[in-house]
Amino acid sequence: MAASGEVQDLRLVNLVKSFGDFTAVDDLTLTIPGGSFFALLGPSGCGKTTTLRMVAGLEAPTSGNILLGDTDITNEKPYKRYVNTVFQSYALFPHLDIFENVAFGLRRRGIKDVSGPVNEMLDLVQLGPMARRKPAQLSGGQQQRVAVARALINEPGVLLLDEPLGALDLKLRRQMQIELKRIQTEVGTTFVHVTHDQEEAMTMADTVAVMNKGRIEQMGAPVDIYDLPKTAFVANFLGQSNSVAGTVQGRSGDDLIVGAPGGSYNVPAARSTRQEGAILLGVRPEKLSIATAGSSAAVPDRHNRATGKVTDASFTGVSTQYLVMTTWGDEWTVFEQNRSVDLLQPGDEVVIHWAPEYTFGLDVPSGE
Ligand SMILES: Nc1ncnc2c1ncn2[C@@H]1O[C@H](COP(=O)(O)OP(=O)(O)OP(=O)(O)O)[C@@H](O)[C@H]1O
Ligand SMILES: [Mg+2]
Repeated sequence: MAASGEVQDLRLVNLVKSFGDFTAVDDLTLTIPGGSFFALLGPSGCGKTTTLRMVAGLEAPTSGNILLGDTDITNEKPYKRYVNTVFQSYALFPHLDIFENVAFGLRRRGIKDVSGPVNEMLDLVQLGPMARRKPAQLSGGQQQRVAVARALINEPGVLLLDEPLGALDLKLRRQMQIELKRIQTEVGTTFVHVTHDQEEAMTMADTVAVMNKGRIEQMGAPVDIYDLPKTAFVANFLGQSNSVAGTVQGRSGDDLIVGAPGGSYNVPAARSTRQEGAILLGVRPEKLSIATAGSSAAVPDRHNRATGKVTDASFTGVSTQYLVMTTWGDEWTVFEQNRSVDLLQPGDEVVIHWAPEYTFGLDVPSGE
């Protein structure tokens, strides 16, 4: 068996978990590289916690295997897996001080001289001066860091984090995201972080896996999957996107020409999962430019364009978010940086345009 603390890949192979005739985790196969910060992102009920519980050994898979390095740990007892978990409710021992909370795992293993490693862990999470306080005397974010220290002191090969920041307010949550990322970089342990917050997943992780109904829809570096989503679910769950359904009518160079309500659009063939037939075009709100319909002559010829009417303008400081009702009756979102103070108003007739290379093409989801 591998030594504790060694960095190894975690592999899930055809992992299935059924509860009666409901399949919560559906044939999951993925490799989480050793030492990476991996985020499992998906909506409530998609199977994230169930996946983590199987990795931790708290739930037996219906079928499939879990491997850490070359060791099959599918049937290994939880405490023998070199896997530790931090849950959303990070239940610290209220009667023990912070030092003893962190020392707990070492004492349980019969280790006598705990002060070196415990102080090292407290320094890592920047709580050295609070060692003698009780958990109730710490803020939520501080308690959360104690929970991380308490898990990391066991030198797990993999640390599982199930919505660990869920109980924190937004500002503290953002701070802790940066803090957790720093801790992970410093210790080099594989972190598997479960969240349904897409911004959190993108901020923290090297690799994000987007999960839907027990399956991974897409996996990759945050910038890559944001730039080029492969399914309509990913396009909408990871950030926002605008879309219109159409039909491929031909090609022009490296672009597909797509006929859709509102006109004809160019999509790079390499950015489309479909090369013919029905297709869903997508583009992110910040890639769009918006101008009054009267200035449409100034739109570059090569740009894709659509026309519509502003239905809402919300000024957020750095940008303005416009909702535009297109001529074919879909509501599109446009994020426009505030470089001028001349905002468009609800009721204004506008042209929306964008460079074709920002467009992506997807299979039309069944039901549309
Ligand atoms: N012990 C169980 N018995 C029956 N169904 C279960 C059991 N545990 C989980 N489920 C179901 O499996 C599905 C996945 O649950 P899971 O807890 O993995 O979701 P999740 O992705 O973690 O969601 P959330 O973001 O809300 O925590 C859900 O539909 C849930 O109701
Ligand atoms: Mg969950």
